[in-house]
Amino acid sequence: MKILIASLIMVSLTQAKELNTQMQDFMNTLRVEAKKQNPNFKDFDYKRGEKIFTTEYIGKKGQLISCVACHTNDLSKDGLNEHTNKVIKPLSPSANADRFTTVKEVKKWLRRNFKDVYVRAGTAEEKGDVVTYIISKK
Ligand code: HEC
Repeated sequence: MKILIASLIMVSLTQAKELNTQMQDFMNTLRVEAKKQNPNFKDFDYKRGEKIFTTEYIGKKGQLISCVACHTNDLSKDGLNEHTNKVIKPLSPSANADRFTTVKEVKKWLRRNFKDVYVRAGTAEEKGDVVTYIISKK
């Protein structure tokens, strides 16, 4: 139990270093919501986030698509928008300091991009999982 608590604290410390207060508040709001929707929810999970990010699904345009399709699997590199052919700057905050700094932007794009791929809005748990994956992926 002690080890579990220590590792939980470490996880929150690493996150705290990477996200600004505004974004940390957003993640905590998602945590509270996720817990309300699923009493067994413990915390956001990298592996679940990876699955959300890499799974192909029949998207909004009726074709198989995943988050990877536009953002690539190397989040430190430019991506390419499948729909518009425009270059997308790297999604990883370690490669692109603007990422995950403005809650409004993050909310807007998560809403849109979940609809692009999964044809519905993401749940609080899914949004938190996928953000956890993106910001910690090396
Ligand atoms: C059809 C192409 C496309 C797909 C598919 C896509 N995205 Fe995006 N995403 C974009 C574009 C375009 C932007 C906004 C331009 C930019 O920020 O460079 C963006 C921005 C984002 C941002 C904003 C980050 C920030 O702080 O600026 C996040 C987070 C994100 N996408 C996550 C996802 C996730 C998670 C998925 C899968 C559910 C996904 N994207 C699928 C095109 C896509």
